[in-house]
Amino acid sequence: MTVIKQLEIAPSVLSADFSQLGEQIASVARAGGQVLHLDIMDGHYVPNLTFGPMVVKALRKMTGMELEAHLMISDPDTYLDEFIAAGANVVLVHPSTCSAVLETLARIKSLGAKAGLVVNPDEKLSMVRPYLKQMDQLLIMSVFPGFGGQAFIPGVLDELPELLDQFAENKVLIEIDGGINHETIPTIRGLGIDRFVAGSAVFNHTADPGENYQNLLTRLIQV
Ligand code: DX5
Ligand code: ZN
Repeated sequence: MTVIKQLEIAPSVLSADFSQLGEQIASVARAGGQVLHLDIMDGHYVPNLTFGPMVVKALRKMTGMELEAHLMISDPDTYLDEFIAAGANVVLVHPSTCSAVLETLARIKSLGAKAGLVVNPDEKLSMVRPYLKQMDQLLIMSVFPGFGGQAFIPGVLDELPELLDQFAENKVLIEIDGGINHETIPTIRGLGIDRFVAGSAVFNHTADPGENYQNLLTRLIQV
């Protein structure tokens, strides 16, 4: 049986105009956006600082879109409850930041959110194999985490074909993050990736975010 998967663009608010956050999110929602990607950085695991549960809570009030929190923080276990209570529907953690990965995934799920693991460009995709049964999502980083607007690193997908069956058997949604735009989408669509995070390509501060979102989606699903 062929499974037709719905391809998605998940705008990352990291590159949004925060002085007009409500309108920027509404624009993406009007264009059909279903998921928002939230980059949480602590200035320790990555050399950049962003926002915490308070902003997630504010976003939750603004939109019914799925909120996925990508935790680039040194001690995610301490903050899982807060992020999920604030309204995060998906929590994505970097395995090296967890003291016990399986326990972290189980805890996220017990709190009512979907759980995922993130693999950096210098880590092997196969590192998530022991956790497949507990995972809802896999986030493949195609840049080193920390900043928006970086160039896509092509080699990060080399291992994907040999692991696709295992991800499918375990119903793991495959997502990619970093350097996703008009030029890179055609080079990686059709490889089995379900969700494409796009920050600077959606919130580029020149065109309307909803229009950018639509253009990227068209690029993604064109035959
Ligand atoms: C980088 C973040 C990304 C970032 C992507 O650490 O995880 O989600 O927002 O930004 P672009 O799409 O501009 O590469
Ligand atoms: Zn991210």
